[in-house]
Amino acid sequence: MQITPSILNADFAALGAEVARIPSADMVHVDVMDNHFVPNLTFGTTMVEALARSTDLPLDAHLMIEAPDRHAPAYVEAGAASVTFHVEATAAPVRLAREIRAAGGRASMALRPATPVEPYEDMLGELDMLLLMTVEPGFGGQKFLDLVLPKIARAKAMTDKHGLDLMLQVDGGVSLETIARCAEAGADTFVAGSAVYSADDPDAMVVALRETAAA
Ligand code: DX5
Ligand code: ZN
Repeated sequence: MQITPSILNADFAALGAEVARIPSADMVHVDVMDNHFVPNLTFGTTMVEALARSTDLPLDAHLMIEAPDRHAPAYVEAGAASVTFHVEATAAPVRLAREIRAAGGRASMALRPATPVEPYEDMLGELDMLLLMTVEPGFGGQKFLDLVLPKIARAKAMTDKHGLDLMLQVDGGVSLETIARCAEAGADTFVAGSAVYSADDPDAMVVALRETAAA
């Protein structure tokens, strides 16, 4: 069970210090938004480079951008250990996953809540992680969408059927209240933004989320 706090709801003027508040995290989830694929704008490779210099934790870059085919490998070069592109935005998911791996990163593909997983069953072996969004991407602090739970279970059944070593990540509305449902459905990697950074003690929240997921 891996907890990957999202810094989207952290203090952007002090990101290095904000990441230092969560030493128990497994990875740091970095939400890259381009104001086109989603109606919000954050940061790009320069910020990933700066964060990589400021922490020993692996960075998990979630690219909510158009044309990830052109930009995703640059995030590995910037220092991200894992790079997630959206299947709705890519022209060639197999080629892109291979390029991310060739650059030395872990390849991950994200599906919006209404995007089915079945069309991608035969390419799951190209991935190190599959991200099933449990909100529409774009903003932190949204309500968890229970309608994604059956898809998590179907994706887990697919990975078991093919004997794949694929991390199943959920992102959006993950909290002490919702994380157990995700884990029961088969998720093993959990992004939590507002739950962690609105807590008085963010690191204690990371530990509590992990314990609740594993219970
Ligand atoms: C939403 C982002 C999430 C966001 C999650 O588009 O991809 O990573 O930070 O925030 P919470 O946990 O508040 O839903
Ligand atoms: Zn995210």
